[in-house]
Amino acid sequence: MEQRSLFERLGGSEAISAVVDDFVARCAADSRINGKFARTDIPRLKKMLVDQVTAATGGPANYTGRDMKTVHAGMGVTGAQFDALASHLVAALEAAQVKAGHVNPQTQETNQTTASRSPRSNRPAVTQR
Ligand code: HEM
Repeated sequence: MEQRSLFERLGGSEAISAVVDDFVARCAADSRINGKFARTDIPRLKKMLVDQVTAATGGPANYTGRDMKTVHAGMGVTGAQFDALASHLVAALEAAQVKAGHVNPQTQETNQTTASRSPRSNRPAVTQR
């Protein structure tokens, strides 16, 4: 039985930071949503995202940011913009070879470890498309 936390199976802080970096870069390149982040402290946002994912997956971090409802209230995010952001998250996870079962939180605990490192090499498998 898999004993390690999802945080560990994802590859820990290094892998999560790499996915967040890639995710934010994809969002920054998308004119449908990048205007929303014009006044955002991006290094801080990245840290908040890493901490949020770390805490949610059983890793050693507390999320110290604001709650999601407060943060996003009044931003006027459309459904299409939400879908655009979500697609970048999925793409960043797929680029890092995170298995589909981990991408869907409802099944994450029943799936096998991710290939956060390629079985054929020791280098991180986080690659750009
Ligand atoms: C899966 C959905 C999402 C999650 C988990 C998420 C998560 C977060 C987190 C953790 C922060 C930092 C909180 C803080 O500053 O204390 C944040 C901030 C932010 N989010 Fe999201 N977010 C999501 C969707 C979106 C969408 C769809 C948009 C707009 C297209 C958006 C726009 C922003 C902006 C502009 C900020 C920075 C606010 C500021 O500069 O003060 N988020 N988000």
